[in-house]
Amino acid sequence: MKKWYAVIGDPVAQSMSPLMHEAWFRENGIDASYIPIHVKPDHLADAVAGLKRLGCSGWNVTVPHKSAIIPFLDQIDEEARRMNAVNTVKVLEDGTLIGTNTDGRGFVRSLQEIGANPESVGELLIIGAGGAAAGISFALESADYGPITITNRTVEKARQLSESLPGSSALPLEEAQMAIGTFGLIVQTTSVGMNFAQSGFPLDPSGISEGATVADIIYNPMETEFLRCAREVGGKTMNGIGMFVHQGALAFELWTGIYPDTKKMIQSITTQLGGK
Ligand code: ATR
Repeated sequence: MKKWYAVIGDPVAQSMSPLMHEAWFRENGIDASYIPIHVKPDHLADAVAGLKRLGCSGWNVTVPHKSAIIPFLDQIDEEARRMNAVNTVKVLEDGTLIGTNTDGRGFVRSLQEIGANPESVGELLIIGAGGAAAGISFALESADYGPITITNRTVEKARQLSESLPGSSALPLEEAQMAIGTFGLIVQTTSVGMNFAQSGFPLDPSGISEGATVADIIYNPMETEFLRCAREVGGKTMNGIGMFVHQGALAFELWTGIYPDTKKMIQSITTQLGGK
């Protein structure tokens, strides 16, 4: 029987996951479809039961359900447990629901794709201490990047995250600003720059060391003010499209056993969002 997959979120209409997964199913000759489903928070339990009852083979989870879905799953893996968030569910033949989180690993894959390896990047600065920062920090640590410094507007949250990450440290924004030239990889994970209401940047990147790699997990706009400024002073910049595509590719691999073509997909999404 034809398999089907989904993404649940509130809102969900903006999600590019359906386009991406449908293209990968076609490219790989897999007879399956992938649909967006709008699920309000109050309906999450019913939605999970419904997806299972209707034979969904797996689904992605987006805002605001990533943590709330955990009690409705049968198992979650180590990654999801550490992040207290699930972005991918796989349904086993017997109906068991397994949750994982591919966001952090997706970010690491996107870094590796541009040649930014642990040996080449040196010290890391993570800006932000929310869910995205936690996933990325854990995945970077597991992939042997480091040492990691976390900075955040609310420094207490940076300290908390740092305590769960052996070998990392936390700094207030002002101190991170002063030390910015010492980092070889800077990762912007806050929502600053996501829209016009949040223009500017949490940290001024103009003092970065030459050739530093600077990543922003935002991909719409494709180049935040933070990235533009970093590029203008000689940084190697990377937006969030690679992370988005690789988190999806890891989910696709979990469901189908195939790691799909990410380079072509990054190019295609870049074109769709108006880039070159
Ligand atoms: P996510 O799961 O996407 O990381 P989140 O958990 O809400 O979202 O975290 C948002 C992050 O963006 C936090 O680190 C937040 O800083 P605070 O902990 O101080 O709130 C950061 N952030 C949001 N708006 C910001 C702003 N205007 N300036 C600096 N940091 C900001």
